[in-house]
Amino acid sequence: MTTKINPIEKELVRESIFIIGHVLSVEGRIVKIKLNKDKNHSHILYEGKTVKNVSVGGYVKIIKGFVSIIGKVEGEYITEEKYINREYNKEEIKINRILQVSLFGHFEGGCFRQGIKEMPLIDNECYLLNREEFNTLHQFYKNSQKSIVIGSLTEEPSQKIRLGVNNLFASHIGIFGNTGSGKSNTLAKIYTELFIEFDDNEEFKAKSDFVIIDFNGEYIGRDIITNNKTVYELSTGKEGSKKKYPITRENLNKVEVLSVLLEATEKTQKPFLDRVVRNDYLNDVDKFNSRVISDIEDICRNIIDKKDKNMREGVVVELFGRISDLVLDESKDGITNLKKEIENNLHFFSGTGGTPEYYWANSSDSNNFNNKTPIYDNKIKTVVDGLKFKSDEFSKLKLKIILNYFHETIKGYSNQEHIAPLIGRTFRKFDMLEKLIEINEEVDSNNLSIVCLRNVNIEMKKIIPLIVSKQLYERKKEINGKKSLHIIVDEAHNILSTMSQRESETWKDYRLETFEEIIKEGRKFGVFLTIASQRPYDISSTIISQLHNYFIHRLINDNDINAVEKAVSYLDKLSFQTIPILSVGSCFVAGLASDIPIKVDIDPLEKNKRPKSETVDLENAWTKILSPNNRKSSKQ
Ligand SMILES: Nc1ncnc2c1ncn2[C@@H]1O[C@H](COP(=O)(O)OP(=O)(O)OP(=O)(O)O)[C@@H](O)[C@H]1O
Ligand SMILES: [Mg+2]
Repeated sequence: MTTKINPIEKELVRESIFIIGHVLSVEGRIVKIKLNKDKNHSHILYEGKTVKNVSVGGYVKIIKGFVSIIGKVEGEYITEEKYINREYNKEEIKINRILQVSLFGHFEGGCFRQGIKEMPLIDNECYLLNREEFNTLHQFYKNSQKSIVIGSLTEEPSQKIRLGVNNLFASHIGIFGNTGSGKSNTLAKIYTELFIEFDDNEEFKAKSDFVIIDFNGEYIGRDIITNNKTVYELSTGKEGSKKKYPITRENLNKVEVLSVLLEATEKTQKPFLDRVVRNDYLNDVDKFNSRVISDIEDICRNIIDKKDKNMREGVVVELFGRISDLVLDESKDGITNLKKEIENNLHFFSGTGGTPEYYWANSSDSNNFNNKTPIYDNKIKTVVDGLKFKSDEFSKLKLKIILNYFHETIKGYSNQEHIAPLIGRTFRKFDMLEKLIEINEEVDSNNLSIVCLRNVNIEMKKIIPLIVSKQLYERKKEINGKKSLHIIVDEAHNILSTMSQRESETWKDYRLETFEEIIKEGRKFGVFLTIASQRPYDISSTIISQLHNYFIHRLINDNDINAVEKAVSYLDKLSFQTIPILSVGSCFVAGLASDIPIKVDIDPLEKNKRPKSETVDLENAWTKILSPNNRKSSKQ
């Protein structure tokens, strides 16, 4: 026989268990609740299920008529109250337990809504949230929407946290925390879950692009995020990159890219590069070689015939020195010998009061200057006419820069002193760049690519992410909205820092402007940025404040906490105060994806899917090295 419980009775039992007190005062958003009785257990049992009891950081519901107002408990304290014990006619002290609650939302039609429509009144009843209400409060997606599980609520581990895919990924995301606090794992977790959720979805593959800028090679492992990805393991080392990053011809020839690469100065070198890229006379494939040759001839004749006191034989030697690396192997010997001959035989003689002249003689002794000949025609032309120049994009660009430089200095259009340092840098920088990128107009077939910069030197570590991001962003702008792009940068302080003093202002501006543009305008074109960093203080505040979703792990430094506090309006004071004491893998999630800021324990990934960033186990490593077996074998 089953006993039928009267619904009114049931409601009374429920209320008696869940009621915790009454409103004592209302001061703006802050409401004080006087608790009915001590409820010191962490959980209470109701209908065979546990319900989280009231605690700082927890939620309560205040009932005012038909309205349920939701608040977060921000503090708890006690007050003493004197009263007369009538029985003994004695004054006694009563202790009141008071909760300080900050209001933030209400329930409407079974759903949680942010914001308050009505304020509570004194003596309104205050309740704990029951299971369903607690679930509703933490359901951040509609049932019809796709969602991913990222972890569980720190204070209520049985509550899994699911975030709506749209709210999370159609946004700029920031992941902050000290080193070792779990940022890379959180980053990998959210994207792993996304790729699992959309596994085998062809539309997703066709209409999305993800690129991870991986400074430490943490994401290149086969199983990390997905195994359908393209890994560009770049290296400026001797052996070069395993797979170079494809850049289009057009992008390489952009004045912004070149000025960043060659650290061009704003006033003189950048305009020079601008003239170089606008000059397209070497683009005609059939006439390329003959045009280079006629250019060289033109430069030489100009120097030798002009008899300018400022132009010495050294300039011709320099010209041949610069171009000697840009000829095909078959012309190598020819140009090397010619360069030597010019060095030994071409002399400039200013004469004694007479017109300055160039002489061709194997001694600089002016007495030997007797064989005045049309020097270019007789001594140089034949070799130059037979030269074959490399015509790949990099060589073409280098030739353009060099020939332009000589033309301009000879004609007096630009000052040699200003441009020469740029020419000096050109070869060294291009050498590095050629190891990392290739000219390729094709678009990658995988929708996830990892650009690994672990083996790339510091100079290129800053430039490559910029070139890659800029190219992808511009491409997306062109196809406007047809495909989404996520640029994911772990250790983002490397490229978004406002602090670096080693670099030029131009470069810093360009770098920040590029990413600030993506942050400000990207959303319209479906371009989103995800950044992870241990130094939010170093990152431009424009960037931090425009992010939509924040994952905030443990941060200890005051400057970093302040930087986040200034930018993140979603997080309350209490949460900020607990940022320095978060444990590894725990973080605050605040922003569009979660209606309320929550503290989440991010689920650890399976071992093979974790980014390769594990904290080194020194004890283990050292004992292995020093173990008796190893010692013996090393002595043998
Ligand atoms: N959610 C998690 N649960 C359990 N352990 C975690 C979690 N996240 C990270 N860890 C552990 O913490 C360590 C550091 O994590 P992670 O590399 O993600 O930190 P990080 O913040 O990216 O550090 P860094 O700034 O140095 O890159 C790892 O050894 C990892 O195993
Ligand atoms: Mg990391």
